[in-house]
Amino acid sequence: MEITTVNIMKIPSIFLFLFLTVFNYLQAQNTKKAELTVLARNGEHTISRHIYGHFSEHLGRCIYGGIWVGEDSDIPNINGYRKDVVEALKNLNIPNLRWPGGCFADEYHWQDGIGPRSERPEMINTHWGGVVEDNSFGTHEFLDFCELLGTEPVICGNVGSGTVEEMSDWVEYINFDGKSPMADLRRENGRDDSWGIKYWGVGNESWGCGGNMTAEFYANQYRRYATYARNYGENRLYKIAGGANSWDLNWTEVIMKNVPLHQMNGLSLHYYTVPHSWSNKGPATGFDEEDYFITLKKAGDMKRLIESHSTIMDKYDKDKRIALVVDEWGNWFDVEPGTNPGFLYQQNSLRDALTAGMTLNIFNNHADRVRMANIAQTVNVLQAIILTNEEGIVLTPTYHVFDLYKPHMDALLLPTYVKGPEYIFNEESLDALSVSASKGKDGTMNITIVNMDPNNDISLDVDISGFEAKSITGKYISSKEFYDYNSFEDPDVVKISELKAPKLSKGIISAILPAKSVVLLQAR
Ligand code: AHR
Repeated sequence: MEITTVNIMKIPSIFLFLFLTVFNYLQAQNTKKAELTVLARNGEHTISRHIYGHFSEHLGRCIYGGIWVGEDSDIPNINGYRKDVVEALKNLNIPNLRWPGGCFADEYHWQDGIGPRSERPEMINTHWGGVVEDNSFGTHEFLDFCELLGTEPVICGNVGSGTVEEMSDWVEYINFDGKSPMADLRRENGRDDSWGIKYWGVGNESWGCGGNMTAEFYANQYRRYATYARNYGENRLYKIAGGANSWDLNWTEVIMKNVPLHQMNGLSLHYYTVPHSWSNKGPATGFDEEDYFITLKKAGDMKRLIESHSTIMDKYDKDKRIALVVDEWGNWFDVEPGTNPGFLYQQNSLRDALTAGMTLNIFNNHADRVRMANIAQTVNVLQAIILTNEEGIVLTPTYHVFDLYKPHMDALLLPTYVKGPEYIFNEESLDALSVSASKGKDGTMNITIVNMDPNNDISLDVDISGFEAKSITGKYISSKEFYDYNSFEDPDVVKISELKAPKLSKGIISAILPAKSVVLLQAR
């Protein structure tokens, strides 16, 4: 056949047609569908900003090297606090910071950490790596740090190895403005005005590292310690009783039964997601889809856990006066090879972003009872939001989730209903989508969605009828692989990007949720 110019022109268009047909077919194969309804007019509960709280323990490089480097350090600092970390935390508007532990809290004697730093005694941090704790970061350093950040301190007092008098004195030292031995001591140490702090934890994990107590024994101890943690002036302490270890429902039952409701404001709960076992947890990076799936599934147990503890609390406190305070949560993996096993230093991947997004959605959706939570931990420990070295910092994928979810803080929770696909792996399944929605004080509707399916985008239609929206915008966090992470060499692998073309038509938002992503849609 004679090849003419016209024929040559036709060949590529045939290929193009075939290519587009095959491409569209494959696209359709990898895109599933879901529907979401947001009841825009049915909000009842406010999402407390304190759900977005953080936790800094004297453990590994969280405080020393992570937050505090001292005024003489070559690392740029503001009065001894790392400047890069201060800026990163300020950007998140963190609502509160829990300190000094953790297990460390129950072996911490606060008077060791006041006065001239050169005269403070050294101790051994027996729980975390057996390293020397020089007490250079103490009460003043912590509370001044909170003032610098504009965040509320949450102090956890020592019940396990401390005394009622010691805890009582600490409250007086921090909160009393009149004349008293402790208030005078604070003045001698350079601080005239009290800090007037509100949040006070009475012991930590008293069933374990905090004294190996029975629930009955702790309930009685709580009553003693809480009695002498006094209110000064107008300030009212918000007292948090040490709560259960994950599925220990009996602990919650005994505390609720034996502590008068007027003596506590919150009851805590700790839950860590450990993919395999405590002796072989699984790596933070370089994992396969089985590890990915198990981690997501176990993180999702937070919902049943909250509902189970809340059901018990409802029996004694039907008006939900007492908050469930999840003051330690997050992923716990094997430490990074070559690091001190007592320092709990682990990397943080896209998988961590997905579990953080899902967990925060669960907290939001239980805002009637869950009114405070603290991810473990802020810097260099467990599911850290920031990693540091001598040269700089890395914002982890989990950091970006807290950044994305900021609009939910103090917003009105809106009920949501999802009809969506499952993510199936090895004949096991979980709901592919996790969702929560809120209406901010500025009138913006915020919808956060996690698509846990690592292999399929999901085409989502959101019915927001009842909400007058003029525009819709979207942002998301994802990456090529679910094990991708940010390193000091390559810090922006997992980051927040603009979501391509979410549409709004007749009260319906349409958007494509990329596989393995955390998405924020905002209607205005
Ligand atoms: O966050 C690390 C440790 O985990 C805390 O010190 C303790 O409370 C929990 O067991």
